[in-house]
Amino acid sequence: MSSPLEIVPVLPVVVAGTAEEGVAIARALVAGGLPAIELTLRTPAALDAIRAIADEVPEILVGAGTITRPGHAKLAADAGAQFLVSPGTTGSLLHALQDSGLPFLPGVATVSEVLAALEAGVTDLKFFPAEASGGAAFLTAVAGPVPTARFCPTGGITAATAPAYLALPNVGCVGGSWLTPADAVASGDWDRISMLAAEAAALVR
Ligand code: 3PG
Repeated sequence: MSSPLEIVPVLPVVVAGTAEEGVAIARALVAGGLPAIELTLRTPAALDAIRAIADEVPEILVGAGTITRPGHAKLAADAGAQFLVSPGTTGSLLHALQDSGLPFLPGVATVSEVLAALEAGVTDLKFFPAEASGGAAFLTAVAGPVPTARFCPTGGITAATAPAYLALPNVGCVGGSWLTPADAVASGDWDRISMLAAEAAALVR
């Protein structure tokens, strides 16, 4: 597959309480025109949800997010994850991501971390936490001295602020959880999630 940065303008960052919930969310995202999902390893059901989505919703590209320990990479790959995302990067985490053989976006928040990733041969990065770390202004400033790095900014981004990020030449997509509001998930309002996905899918890079 190509880089996770190139698949959708908005990468939905999702927390699933159960595998069934993950599948329902994945179906709602596809119905709205967003065929990719970052399922975060933040609940005991996360790996089961990844496995169920990979089995039951083959039209979506399912990735594993919140990879915070080296061991997570293999667990996620074995569950069927097709790409991996980490909120930050350590040396051992980066090795585990590389060893997985899957496309991945390691998290960075400083210029030194961007340079370390480039030294390791990695150009496609998650900028996290985007809003707290300088937002679009940070990415604009980085584009001058480090033009080869490309980003998926995530963290505090909304439907209103996404377009400013997507207009930047070093941004491939933005990530966010605003497509799956907790109350919509709790009440099973999958139509609302499809509507939010459709709005996000229409954003131009
Ligand atoms: C992530 O893991 O990428 C973030 O928690 C998503 O950030 P958001 O919830 O502010 O969109």
